[in-house]
Amino acid sequence: MQNRSKKLLEDFENFLQNNLPQTESFHPHYQNALTEMFHAGGKRFRPQLLLEVVDTYTPLLVPAANHVAAGIEMLHTYSLIHDDLPTFDDADLRRGHPTLHVTYDQVTATLVGDALNSHSFYMIADAPLASDIKIALIKELATNGGAEGMVLGQAIDCFFEERKLSLDELSFLHLNKTAKLIAASLKMGGIISDLEPEIQNLLYEIGLKIGLLFQIQDDIIDATLSSEEAGKPTQNDTVKNSFTNLLGVEGARVEKEKLISEIETMLGEVDPLLKRRLDSMIAYYLK
Ligand code: IPE
Ligand code: IPE
Ligand code: MG
Ligand code: MG
Ligand code: MG
Repeated sequence: MQNRSKKLLEDFENFLQNNLPQTESFHPHYQNALTEMFHAGGKRFRPQLLLEVVDTYTPLLVPAANHVAAGIEMLHTYSLIHDDLPTFDDADLRRGHPTLHVTYDQVTATLVGDALNSHSFYMIADAPLASDIKIALIKELATNGGAEGMVLGQAIDCFFEERKLSLDELSFLHLNKTAKLIAASLKMGGIISDLEPEIQNLLYEIGLKIGLLFQIQDDIIDATLSSEEAGKPTQNDTVKNSFTNLLGVEGARVEKEKLISEIETMLGEVDPLLKRRLDSMIAYYLK
């Protein structure tokens, strides 16, 4: 990773750790549970996407963008906490650490997810940005991370578990479950930098492809890595609808290559500096 990107991520991490929700009460572990998953690693892929866009076009806005990037990471973390609950994937490990419902209980894990979901929107509302920009950001996160995006994807994933989907249906599932939040992260960078609507939409379309690639890679990780390497249980998707189950690991890799070349073509239309930065993220995380 380039030094500039490393610095962006370091500064973001400091910001995040200093801006986690703080509560006071006589509950013995509520506050710890609320922040625990942020001390347990995680790639910060979505914040990085947003910050690479803002740092390319309007570097002076990076400090303000950290608020928004932290909001996205909080919403993403809520989705993981709920995804790991027994009623979803029943996973006992996340980011190399025991999941919240294992350390505490299901009620705590569910409520921490709920709190982080709300707090993600508070982070955006509280950012030092113009109100119209913040409203646009909130709408983007609400749709892509909520009813018409991640939540819809999770609903389909869970409802059709053990029932085989077609390739088109599986792509629809992955687009909603994972790709829309990733696409929104890029577009929200474009909103903060006040880019032309066409460029914002192009970033969103590129983000959908990167997001699909990301979930295919996640499915390959489940099929091929140990739980220690992945920091979460693997071989967990054997009865699930995943690219590796439908196409095999090799077929999933072919699909990945196809997506990477489509992304390359689309990236030809964005600022060359941003292209280089996104290329290096793809090479680092997704090849
Ligand atoms: C995992 O997301 C869930 C998917 C959408 C595939 P990440 O792979 O970004 O998880 P962290 O944040 O790095 O732990
Ligand atoms: C979950 O997908 C994606 C979310 C929206 C949380 P997975 O169930 O494949 O994610 P992992 O593999 O547990 O991280
Ligand atoms: Mg899942
Ligand atoms: Mg899971
Ligand atoms: Mg997975």
